[in-house]
Amino acid sequence: MKNKIILITGATSGIGKQTAISLATMGATVIVTGRNQQNGEEAIKEIKAISKNENIDLILADISTIAGIKSLVTKFKSKYNHLDILINNAGLAGNEYKITVDGFEANFAVNVVAPYVLTTLLLDTLKAGENARVITLTGGDLPSKIQLDNIQSEKSFDGLSTYSQTKMIMMCLMYEFSQRQLNSNITINICYPGQASTSMTQNVTAGMLPFLMRPIFPIFKLLVRPDNGKSAKKASRSSAYLASSKDVENKTGIYCDKYVQLKEMPKVVTDVYNRKYIWDKVTELTTGKI
Ligand SMILES: NC(=O)c1ccc[n+]([C@@H]2O[C@H](COP(=O)([O-])OP(=O)(O)OC[C@H]3O[C@@H](n4cnc5c(N)ncnc54)[C@H](OP(=O)(O)O)[C@@H]3O)[C@@H](O)[C@H]2O)c1
Repeated sequence: MKNKIILITGATSGIGKQTAISLATMGATVIVTGRNQQNGEEAIKEIKAISKNENIDLILADISTIAGIKSLVTKFKSKYNHLDILINNAGLAGNEYKITVDGFEANFAVNVVAPYVLTTLLLDTLKAGENARVITLTGGDLPSKIQLDNIQSEKSFDGLSTYSQTKMIMMCLMYEFSQRQLNSNITINICYPGQASTSMTQNVTAGMLPFLMRPIFPIFKLLVRPDNGKSAKKASRSSAYLASSKDVENKTGIYCDKYVQLKEMPKVVTDVYNRKYIWDKVTELTTGKI
């Protein structure tokens, strides 16, 4: 991985930080992003110390807004002339209905709009290298169908179910993106990290679980109790694999599970109607803004 330039969103803690450690240990230049300066600086120090790699950079940006994503891209392009690997790692499991400054439901903004906009704005730098890879992290417990009339919680907001639905929408969108880049040097893939103890899971409240699962909330809390990054390290294996393995060098539109096994993409994701609908919707919502 020496000479590879890798940008990982949300790599100042959790699964993203462990992915950064893993890829930095392989010798890559890793650009870590997050919103908080202090967390960022501490993460950089830790990643450098563990990986024995000094080529670790920090860019601060809030990817829940289009202005934040644009600022991230501008800062990246001012220092680097190409990008080998983009890992869309940062995600949001919001506990209440919120609208961002761009007018998007917050889970939709971070889990769907951000990977699409960031990938789109970085396409030229990805094309400037050879065999570029884009990897986006999805969630577990994905719904068996997408509520196309509720993609931004227009009808109902339902905690973790809303989060899962936005991850499924992202998969449709990024799968469609992969098909539109078939003739380019870019592969676009999805991975599921598995459950890990991170700020995301620690911030889950009982009210975010489906009603019938609320009685088992204490068990969930026990499963995600702080473990010093141990479960996050395990959960970083699938993204690190898609970013670094020669086995997947030319594979696109693929799904890697938490056991680092390649699996068929769910039919809901590859469904032509769903992915075209979502692609058209997201491009329409972002046209004139990016
Ligand atoms: N943890 C799990 O069990 C689990 C399971 C399935 C899938 N996943 C997926 O794996 C990915 C990583 O999850 P995680 O649990 O490691 O998450 P996490 O602990 O919440 O990740 C935190 C990282 O994301 C950054 N971040 C959060 N919101 C941001 C924003 N708006 N703009 C920029 N950076 C932001 C944080 O930095 P700052 O706070 O400094 O901004 C930090 O670096 C997510 O996509 C998640 O959906 C996680």
